[in-house]
Formats: sequence, structure tokens, C-alpha cells
Amino acid sequence: QSLQRLNACLFPVKYKDTYYRDAVLAGSYTKLAFYKDACVGNIACRLEETGPYIRVYIMTLGVLPSYRRMGIGSKLLQSVLGLCQQDPRVVDVYLHVQTNNDEAMEFYKNFDFQIVDTIFNYYIRLDPPDCYVLSLRLR
Ligand code: ACO
Repeated sequence: QSLQRLNACLFPVKYKDTYYRDAVLAGSYTKLAFYKDACVGNIACRLEETGPYIRVYIMTLGVLPSYRRMGIGSKLLQSVLGLCQQDPRVVDVYLHVQTNNDEAMEFYKNFDFQIVDTIFNYYIRLDPPDCYVLSLRLR
């Protein structure tokens, strides 16, 4: 429920039941951030297993506007990267970001994510509808 409320504030997309199922199945790869008693951010991942390998897909990472630039987003991402380091099956972490999202691009650059693809018309209801695929290769 906290995740649902936060996403409604943070993202212009309504998430389906599969998003919430995947987020829960990802266990500690999905986290909420609290500031005092308030739930102010989340990172939600999906673990994609193929054979012996796991790709970690970041479905959402967001912090409420008044709590940004305080290091909360970095802490959320660092905690997921820490889990990835501990599991030798994890080969990369990747995500989609809308091409005009300069804040997110700056943010992920700090962690050495690279643009590996551009997908045109990825979003049906957003303008621009295009996204970059960012990836951080671990192994
Ligand atoms: N402009 C430029 N650089 C930025 C910005 C910004 N608005 N925000 C973060 N950065 C960079 C800076 O280098 C910053 O370091 P600094 O503050 O010392 O200069 C660094 O990232 C770390 O910032 P944090 O404080 O750790 O990040 P924050 O808690 O503000 O969260 C986030 C960043 C998650 C991108 C936030 O802006 C947000 O929620 N945006 C809306 C939702 C969103 O776009 N999420 C990502 C979409 S992709 C996806 O979800 C998979």
C-alpha cells in the first residue's frame, strides 16, 4: 500500500498487479525509504532469471520531491547494488528511463550506468514516448 501511494505521487504510469507481484518476489531487492516516520521513496526491482544468470531490472526508483537531493535515492540504489555484489549470479542491473529525464540520467551517471539502447515509442501515454535503456554490467 505504501508503494502504491508513493508511485501515484511519483510516476505518470499506473502500475499493474504484475508489478506489485514482481516487486514482492524480488524480496530485499525492493525497498521503501523512510524519513522520520514518513515513507518518502522506493526502489522496486524484478529479478529475471535465465539459466544460471540473474538480471536485475529496476522497475521504479523514486523519492518524493521535497526529499530529493538528500542522498536518499543513492542510498536505495546502493543497497540494491550491494545485494548484487554479494550474488555471483547477477550479471547486470538495467532500467528504462524516458529520454527527457535529465535528473535521472545525471543520477544514474554517478553510478556508471551506460546507455545501451534507445527504444522509440516505448511509452504509449507519455511525451516524449522514447526511452533509453541504461545498464550497469557487473560480471
Ligand atoms: N539534477 C541534476 N543532478 C541530479 C538531480 C537533479 N535534479 N538529482 C540527482 N542528481 C544527481 C546529483 O549528482 C546528485 O548528487 P548531489 O546532490 O550531491 O549533486 C546525485 O544524483 C545523487 O542524488 P540523490 O540525492 O541521491 O538522489 P534523490 O534522492 O534526489 O533521487 C531520483 C534521485 C530518484 C532520480 C529523484 O530525482 C526522483 O525520484 N525523480 C522522479 C522519479 C524518477 O524519475 N525516477 C527515475 C526514473 S527511471 C526508473 O524509475 C527506473
